[in-house]
Amino acid sequence: MSRKVIGIVMNGVTGRMGYRQHLVRSILAIREQGGLPLADGRTLWPEPILVGRNAHKLKEIAEQHGLEHWTTSLDEALAHPLAEIYFDAQVTTAREHAIRAAIAAGKHVYTEKPTAETLDSALELARLARDAGVCNGAVQDKLFLPGLLKLKRLVDSGFFGRILSVRGEFGYWVFEGDWQAAQRPSWNYRTQDGGGMILDMFPHWRYVLDNLIAPVQSVYAHTATHIPERVDEQGRTYPATADDAAYGIFELAGGVTAQINSSWAVRVDRDELVEFQIDGTHGSAVAGLRNCRFQHRAATPKPVWNPDLPATESFRSQWQQVPDNGEFDNGFKVQWELFLHHVASGTAYHWDLLEGAKGVQLAELGLRSAAEGRRLDVPELTL
Ligand SMILES: NC(=O)c1ccc[n+]([C@@H]2O[C@H](COP(=O)([O-])OP(=O)(O)OC[C@H]3O[C@@H](n4cnc5c(N)ncnc54)[C@H](O)[C@@H]3O)[C@@H](O)[C@H]2O)c1
Repeated sequence: MSRKVIGIVMNGVTGRMGYRQHLVRSILAIREQGGLPLADGRTLWPEPILVGRNAHKLKEIAEQHGLEHWTTSLDEALAHPLAEIYFDAQVTTAREHAIRAAIAAGKHVYTEKPTAETLDSALELARLARDAGVCNGAVQDKLFLPGLLKLKRLVDSGFFGRILSVRGEFGYWVFEGDWQAAQRPSWNYRTQDGGGMILDMFPHWRYVLDNLIAPVQSVYAHTATHIPERVDEQGRTYPATADDAAYGIFELAGGVTAQINSSWAVRVDRDELVEFQIDGTHGSAVAGLRNCRFQHRAATPKPVWNPDLPATESFRSQWQQVPDNGEFDNGFKVQWELFLHHVASGTAYHWDLLEGAKGVQLAELGLRSAAEGRRLDVPELTL
């Protein structure tokens, strides 16, 4: 059976997401499974062409994984004879410039979110990709997580009846960096470097709500910088200029109210780092990254408010787990495989740069809402 090699310029593989989720858990995992079988009988073999700023780190990664191609020059990487796809997992501020260069070089583009720092730029990238006729995609990994796939199953089955509301809790304590090292890169806490909770997480909430529940129609956001000073990777104290928490209320089509708290200054009293509770007339569910539990209306208890007595029921134990009913692969890898099929075989692919721009739109409107203290409509986006 013939093998088709497809070169993927991978930028940002020295970073957290680029290395672990995209290179190791997606592209190298696809190679470990023998490549990606295509419908025409061929096998697609992804060939990473690593690009970045630090030659030493790139060489080390290439050697560790037996990879042949790496360079510190984006132009050189894009000109590589095998290169067909450009992938970007750099810091957000470096993204637009590199994607523009990739599209100009005629490469298909796949990128981490947010696809750009502003809506204008995000839309411009989507337009440039469309006009150049290149395939394009934005990472929307949460849609491919087991917990949210199980939630989608419930939605598709009509389990909820009429969906009334969504409540999301996301976050955990990110150490300040003084007495324990921070577990996230410091740029995330500086606005001038593309950081901030809204810019990071509202793109996720946009595609989760749009795709699983109903399109987002308005946003009200309140932000805070709870920890005003942090310590960076070099041990230097810096002012945290970006929001480290965002409290958002979103109106969705069909009258659904969604409320999502996102915070890096919260301690976890949940089963998972993100959880969404969906309440509907016929049932409710709580979905996390891996699990999803549900309660049908027929199994709903009838609590009576009486603070004089201890709780009479164990509410948490009354929920049932949605069964796996199959195997779930890594969400990033699943989306990579869909994108690679799209590029190699022209299969449909929904999660493109226009969808990515919707996430940037919600982030931009969220930041404006917080600055102005008012609810803002989310207009429909077209190219
Ligand atoms: N899909 C998700 O769940 C998810 C999660 C975290 C981050 N992200 C996104 O992935 C991207 C990378 O985030 P990360 O947490 O991996 O960051 P990171 O700091 O760990 O990695 C950043 C990468 O960008 C490179 N880079 C290029 N120019 C740079 C510059 N001027 N300053 C610093 N680094 C520069 C670094 O060398 C490194 O390879 C961001 O756009 C972020 O929004 C997505």
